[in-house]
Amino acid sequence: MPSAVVAPSLLAANHGDFAQGVRTVEEAGLQWLHLDIMDGHFVPNISFGPQVVADLRPLTKLHFDVHLMLTNPDRFVAAFAKAGAERLTVHVEADHDVALTIAAIKNAGMSAGIAMNPDTDPQRLLPYLDSVDLALCMTVFPGFGGQAFIPSALKSIQFLADERTSRGASFRLEVDGGINLDTGRQCRAAGADTFVAGTAFFKAADRSSFARQLTA
Ligand code: DX5
Ligand code: ZN
Repeated sequence: MPSAVVAPSLLAANHGDFAQGVRTVEEAGLQWLHLDIMDGHFVPNISFGPQVVADLRPLTKLHFDVHLMLTNPDRFVAAFAKAGAERLTVHVEADHDVALTIAAIKNAGMSAGIAMNPDTDPQRLLPYLDSVDLALCMTVFPGFGGQAFIPSALKSIQFLADERTSRGASFRLEVDGGINLDTGRQCRAAGADTFVAGTAFFKAADRSSFARQLTA
């Protein structure tokens, strides 16, 4: 299992001052930043696009873990590569040739991830697990921060963790949505190693301690 990582979601920061959000993540001693890209079509909300990612890039060395909640993620691979994303994760439910999009992400020099919604059969990820280095199991329906964790997602996490073991694979297993110390521990027990936290991270009184506890 890869080493545990916390990836705070910028979605929960002040959208009028993302640079401050980035500093907050750095001050907590973390290495990853999760960036949620929403098109108002694949999900019922709009967040921000590649220009924001490009403008944040010179401010930090944080690993940009970009989560595309887009109907046509294939159309935006080049833009996010140019913006300086290190990693692009696309949804299996979106309207694209998933294998081709994953290949395009890797050809553009980024790491590729495959994501699934809480009500998606995790078996749908099986054809892609040998070509990605991250599988993202959503623990809320994507679109908004601050939602309650959906416990039935634990089964999918366990399924993907078992699959990773049986293949001898080393992809990261990321969880995203409603992650706090309690739900994070449940996900870790099920096999997750990469924890996106928006609301719980930004609201924590001591963010570095929160992150340490989440990965302890
Ligand atoms: C939801 C996003 C998440 C979200 C998590 O659509 O993919 O990354 O920001 O936020 P919290 O931790 O508040 O549930
Ligand atoms: Zn996300």
